[in-house]
Amino acid sequence: MGLLGWIKTKLFPAPALVSVAAPQPAAAARAPRERSAARPADAPLPERAPPSTASRAALLRARVGQLDGDEHLTGQLDNPESDLLERLRQRIESGELDIPLLPPTSVTALEVANRPSVDVHQLVQTIARDPLITSELLRIANSALYATQNEASSLQQAIMRIGLKAVRNVVFSAAMKSSLSNARRLNEYAEEVWRQSQSVAAVARKLGASTGFEREQAYLIGLLHDIGKIVLLGMLQREMRDMSRLSPALVGRTFRLFHESAGGAIAAQWKLPIEIVSVASQHHDFASNEDYPRAAALAKLAHEIDLRLSLRDEGGVRMLVESPALEFLGIRDETARWQLIEAAREEWEAHAHSHPH
Ligand SMILES: [Fe+2]
Ligand SMILES: [Fe+2]
Repeated sequence: MGLLGWIKTKLFPAPALVSVAAPQPAAAARAPRERSAARPADAPLPERAPPSTASRAALLRARVGQLDGDEHLTGQLDNPESDLLERLRQRIESGELDIPLLPPTSVTALEVANRPSVDVHQLVQTIARDPLITSELLRIANSALYATQNEASSLQQAIMRIGLKAVRNVVFSAAMKSSLSNARRLNEYAEEVWRQSQSVAAVARKLGASTGFEREQAYLIGLLHDIGKIVLLGMLQREMRDMSRLSPALVGRTFRLFHESAGGAIAAQWKLPIEIVSVASQHHDFASNEDYPRAAALAKLAHEIDLRLSLRDEGGVRMLVESPALEFLGIRDETARWQLIEAAREEWEAHAHSHPH
């Protein structure tokens, strides 16, 4: 290959993500990207591609296991772990949940943002006390989602650009992160819960556009639907006493059994919107959610998509077209289903690239 070929590989690099084509119209219609196998001997070495984002998610999964599988409902736990599960069950059934407090800055910021007439100056003053929220707002305001020609360089500009609903989402996101950081001894599990919530939120926002949800509302539904897991990680950490590690089987079973009831409790305690309280307490059996079944179905679908993609389970991705949640959300046409799944995949990949874990 000559210089021209090498330039082509620079201009049209092979995609970092290995995307296995599913038998579907959207993927079939993609033009194959130009690849080049060779490189002139005197050419500088091309930059090494970062590990694919799919493999980063898969690596995290490999460390902590697949926590959301039904297989955790059965199977033997060793003695200390089954004792721990029993202690946890008793505490949860008697209503003794340890619910983390919403951080004080978040409380104040939400109070100010929820007033009928918002004092942006006061909101800026409150949020400026929190460097994490401040930098996140600036990052989002200047991201492709909101970017204009002029950079938002101040917190006030960032808030004005993205709007109060998006500010609220960032505040909740930061509150989740700070609560998760308390589960230090279960750091790997906390990391996966965090990755999952952010990724599901991005996918839900994408799906929401075609299923009748407002963008930021859909994001919040995805972000917070599994918030009960945060409560459980905190409780597991307290109950593990001198155990050095907990198995994915135990954490998975705890999540599977209790995360919806814990989710309803923390969402109510944090005074989240009523729709979120409802979705956090019932989304797996979304059709039985009496008040917000569509929002629950959106959360379920977004989570299923993230799960299959993060497991690199292409067979599972193809099965998503049969998902009852799609039917429930009114997407009946098969081509429309594939298009939606494909759009969600692109969003998932874009999110994973911008938030490497
Ligand atoms: Fe869930
Ligand atoms: Fe979920």
